[in-house]
Amino acid sequence: MIKKSPQEMNELSDPVNIESARLTDVPALCHLLQQLFSIEQDFTPDLEKQRAGLTLLIQQPDRGTIMVARNAEGHAIGMISAQLVISTAEGAPSAWIEDMVIDSAWRNRGLGKSLLQAILNWASQQGATRAQLLVDMDNTPAIAYYDHLGWHTSRLQMRSLFL
Ligand SMILES: CC(C)(COP(=O)(O)OP(=O)(O)OC[C@H]1O[C@@H](n2cnc3c(N)ncnc32)[C@H](O)[C@@H]1OP(=O)(O)O)[C@@H](O)C(=O)NCCC(=O)NCCS
Repeated sequence: MIKKSPQEMNELSDPVNIESARLTDVPALCHLLQQLFSIEQDFTPDLEKQRAGLTLLIQQPDRGTIMVARNAEGHAIGMISAQLVISTAEGAPSAWIEDMVIDSAWRNRGLGKSLLQAILNWASQQGATRAQLLVDMDNTPAIAYYDHLGWHTSRLQMRSLFL
């Protein structure tokens, strides 16, 4: 668990903990995903589906992980997830980063960056040599955020098909 002091967290008066999500976090994580999926045009918030997906991921720690930022009351105020795939391009695991969202009341205080770094550390410890993520092409603030943090833009375009 990473404990950030107020001095380390710009403008935060209370300490924030970053740690793995627990099943008891699922309702709060559903609320966070609702904020994210209302921005991303490809997704529609669906409480039951989000509850099922989050539970599956927490119960299968070999596949991936969810990290949460908790406020002083222990409430999840930000989240991020990563899942491992084998990359034939890299000849090693790589990590799909998803579900990056900070509660709207807690943005611009360094929490997103801290969560991202924590999950990249996790991926690296699992042997991943690359991480990748998708951003809605109209989500200008998120695009600027990843640019600022040094993420490269890909020439690949996503395609999806429901089974
Ligand atoms: C995008 C998001 C996760 C960023 O989290 P955050 O906690 O607000 O960001 P941080 O405070 O950790 O910012 C980290 C750094 O990025 C910079 N940054 C943050 N937002 C930025 C933006 N829109 N444009 C440029 N830089 C930005 C900060 O200034 C900071 O820079 P520094 O480390 O040099 O001081 C958050 O705004 C959010 O939840 N947005 C809605 C959901 C979303 O769009 N998620 C992304 C889905 S792909």
